[in-house]
Amino acid sequence: MVVNTISDQDVEEMFELARAVALEAGQVIRENFYKDKVVDTKMSAADLVTETDQAIEKMVHTKILAKFPDHKFIGEESTHETHKHELTDDPTWIIDPIDGTTNFVNHIPEVCFSLGIMVNKQTVIGIVYAPIKEELYTAKLGQGSYLNGEKLQASKIKELKQAVILFEGGASRDEQILQDKLKNVHSLFTNARGVRSYGSGALSICNVAAGRGQAFFEYGLHIWDFTAGNLIASEAGAVVTDPSGAELNPLRRRVLVGCSAEVAQSLSKVLTHLDMGWD
Ligand code: IPD
Repeated sequence: MVVNTISDQDVEEMFELARAVALEAGQVIRENFYKDKVVDTKMSAADLVTETDQAIEKMVHTKILAKFPDHKFIGEESTHETHKHELTDDPTWIIDPIDGTTNFVNHIPEVCFSLGIMVNKQTVIGIVYAPIKEELYTAKLGQGSYLNGEKLQASKIKELKQAVILFEGGASRDEQILQDKLKNVHSLFTNARGVRSYGSGALSICNVAAGRGQAFFEYGLHIWDFTAGNLIASEAGAVVTDPSGAELNPLRRRVLVGCSAEVAQSLSKVLTHLDMGWD
């Protein structure tokens, strides 16, 4: 097995390109935000794609290949076309061109571009850019995470009853899945202080990193929704796990991010854990 080694300089070069493409993607989102969109559906009527999602993904992929021709790429929209992707130990750029596409279509500002880079299946760089709100979240492994250059620190709250929980319902409209998710919503209202759902998994994870709420969880999201955010949150002191409390598997389509181990564990205990399959 070949284990890839990367130097600090490699990380800096990747980070520089990642940041540049994020800002460029943000500009395209901003230019199209109030325009009429051509909207298509994917897995369900709640799973949308626009020409802007596709254009951004193509632009970013082209730029990455030009500078790092050997690197791998997992993008939400190209994966949707081929219906498969593989996570290897190679440096892999994992992109969601617009996280919060339904918000984008409805002029709701919680939209972002999300880019995580994994090497040996470990995330080394995370960038989430919300251009309408002008918020740029960045993280490098072991070096902290930042919002517009200001260091992030997750909330220090330990009690679930004091916590505001962010969650996303996801795109599945399967009746049994919806029943289980509704049980979870009931449980949140019973056990926590507040419940929020903003329509972007990536930004919700960044909100936990920024102390805007104490935890986030979702069943049914994908690797491109959480790779960047997870590093931003863990570098801010948050705990990132599978909702059961086990180690996160990035292909298992579920995640729990808690501001503290205590909040993460208490939340895990009151949730019904859904198996949403694998990427
Ligand atoms: C979706 C959003 C949504 C989450 C879905 C994601 P998209 O991403 O993050 O909040 O519930 O699971 O797929 O489709 O807008 O990129």
